[in-house]
Amino acid sequence: MAKKIFSGVQPTGNLHLGNYIGAIKNFVDLQNEKNNQCIFCVVDLHAITVKQNPKELKNNIRETTAAFLASGIEPEKNIIFNQSLVPAHSEGSWILGCVARMGWLNRMTQFKEKAGKDKEKASIGLYIYPVLMAADILLYDASHVPVGEDQKQHLELSRDIAQKFNLDYECPNFFKIPEPLIQKNFARIMSLKDGTKKMSKSDPSDLSRINLKDNKDEIINKIKKAKTDNDSMPKDENNLNKRPEIENLFSIYSSLSNQNLKSTIDQFSGKNFSKFKNDLAEVVVEKITPISNEIKRLEKDPQFIDNILLNGSKKAEKMAKLKVEKLKEIIGF
Ligand code: TYM
Repeated sequence: MAKKIFSGVQPTGNLHLGNYIGAIKNFVDLQNEKNNQCIFCVVDLHAITVKQNPKELKNNIRETTAAFLASGIEPEKNIIFNQSLVPAHSEGSWILGCVARMGWLNRMTQFKEKAGKDKEKASIGLYIYPVLMAADILLYDASHVPVGEDQKQHLELSRDIAQKFNLDYECPNFFKIPEPLIQKNFARIMSLKDGTKKMSKSDPSDLSRINLKDNKDEIINKIKKAKTDNDSMPKDENNLNKRPEIENLFSIYSSLSNQNLKSTIDQFSGKNFSKFKNDLAEVVVEKITPISNEIKRLEKDPQFIDNILLNGSKKAEKMAKLKVEKLKEIIGF
């Protein structure tokens, strides 16, 4: 069945292999499924929930767009735009913020992680961030939302908000209840330095992640330095969850080679770690360096990228505006 896909990526720099495997790679697969309609958003309003340098933000919006294009997302087939060009997102977000409950937001683990110990100093935007995310999704009647594991709770909140609105205003089918699309196996890529921590843009150690703009030598060096353990090569999947670094490297290899974890384990069983790391580096270089080169090439033509965003935003605006108009009518404005 045809799906209506919506997903977003924050333009906060350092896009990495986790973003690629957990999200962007799947965007490309979904775009290639027949009859799907896909909307991919550079969520710049989300980015400013943490203070951004304006110049860097502008560059990061373009970089994220370039990463979409370089990974194979086609602007003619899909809608690619940045959130701040479509005011309906902010408007819808305010209205949904009046539906969402404090208790629901208080449970959001990402806020707790990002706000850290001193919650009082976090921006209100960071707290209500998942409400804006709900507006993103619900304004387009998205049927499916491809994301990494870390966004699961936010998606559940979007579903709760949609259901409560439909119930409160007695309009049972107004907001479509979106389904998360989270891969079973590779939805959480971990840091190369600590297999218990998610690979993240904000990790102070650049060695913890493969950036989509890394060159061949950087990739090889990071994989060489990636943490492993002193045990022998795994023979099966049992106990792999007790060896998070190994599980992570095997997951990266499997995902980029489009094979399951078991095939990778069988492939390297009896071999040594240096052989595995060499092969892993080869697979990552093969997948990532063309993307990296293409991002850098596209970034030299900011006007080209800006045009794609502008064109995409016109198409997005049409849909989102219409939905907000209906929303306002239901509310009694
Ligand atoms: P963001 O920008 O943090 O991440 C973009 C996408 O990458 C996934 N991801 C990962 N997947 C696997 N392993 C990792 N280590 C890893 N790190 C990040 C994320 O799950 C995400 O899919 N709130 C969202 C952006 C957003 C959005 C939306 C998504 C805003 N509105 C509407 C879907 C629908 C975010 O901060 O993603």
